[in-house]
Amino acid sequence: MELSSTEVVSPAISVELLLHPDDVLADLGRDVREGLTSSPKSLPPKWFYDDRGSKLFESITRLPEYYPTRREREILAGRATSIVAECPASTLVELGSGTSDKTILLLDALAAHGSLRRFVPFDVSETTLRTAALRLAQRFPGLEVAAIVGDFDRHLHAIALPETGPRLVAFLGGTVGNLDRQQRAGFFGRLSRDLRPDDGLLLGTDLVKDVDRLVAAYDDAAGIAAQFNLNVLDVINRRLGADFDLGGFGHVAHWDSEHEWVEMRLRSTSAQRVRVAALDLDVVFAPGEEIRTEISAKFHREDLEAELAAAGLELRRWWTDPKDDYALSLSFRR
Ligand code: SAH
Ligand code: TRP
Repeated sequence: MELSSTEVVSPAISVELLLHPDDVLADLGRDVREGLTSSPKSLPPKWFYDDRGSKLFESITRLPEYYPTRREREILAGRATSIVAECPASTLVELGSGTSDKTILLLDALAAHGSLRRFVPFDVSETTLRTAALRLAQRFPGLEVAAIVGDFDRHLHAIALPETGPRLVAFLGGTVGNLDRQQRAGFFGRLSRDLRPDDGLLLGTDLVKDVDRLVAAYDDAAGIAAQFNLNVLDVINRRLGADFDLGGFGHVAHWDSEHEWVEMRLRSTSAQRVRVAALDLDVVFAPGEEIRTEISAKFHREDLEAELAAAGLELRRWWTDPKDDYALSLSFRR
């Protein structure tokens, strides 16, 4: 059993810490050693989101090329009332909540319905989470905000709250697409076991579309996605005393048509050796050698529906924007 501590920030806000700084550093070390000594090299995407990375992601959401955030907001604006009619929750849980910006539309609808009691934002990024918690507690007086600093790969059990009425579990931003099919099967399975019959899963997924638009969303003209991608090397430099030269790597966004995902990579522009002091590790890069940093899978309704069904979840509603760029779905346990 992992130790956790809960800090009461105000009568309305608590922050449960499932990730302790020492554990986080050990996890990062393990992931970096494993990822950079395997072939091909890779790094898990959760390390993008330090304070600077979270800010860069916020800038990405406002880029002209990055349509998913706008599409998802459009759908939420039009459908929040329908979502709440299907799932009149007293608790809204949000996984990978970030700034919880679009989530305000759901909270508004739940508040208007009269069922809303509690909001549980869940994220690895503590600073982003605390800022969002303060903002939402101010905006919704009387709302209990029970924030969780945790990793949804490991700490999903933490959202299994005592029976207090139906929960709506929102997982927005297409973040589920950052898991591969096998990771999604595990994730949906764990979630499904934790859901009660009245609990709904509201999932935001980006859809397969024109390749140029898909790739542009991850390789914008202003180079913000590139800065975001490169930031993971800066995180490793600062936290593990590595000496990555950020100028020695280029950002790559590649459409993998077989898997239907955009793959983010960092390509070494020359032969180089990088030292990771805290791990006593030297990593050698050949010219053009790449590190895979993230996949962002794009979906078709039938495939997603089948994946959910395999985990015991029934996709009951499916909403898209008028251009069919993006989908929100609402599923329940079968
Ligand atoms: N939901 C927001 C943010 C999406 S970006 C939106 O729709 O705009 C992905 C978010 O998930 C970031 O806030 C990041 O910190 C968080 N995240 C990434 N990996 C995570 C993990 N393993 N566990 C918990 N949160 C994670
Ligand atoms: N969850 C985001 C997505 O899949 C992450 C992301 C957006 C991202 N832009 C990026 C990751 C650019 C790496 C580079 O859409």
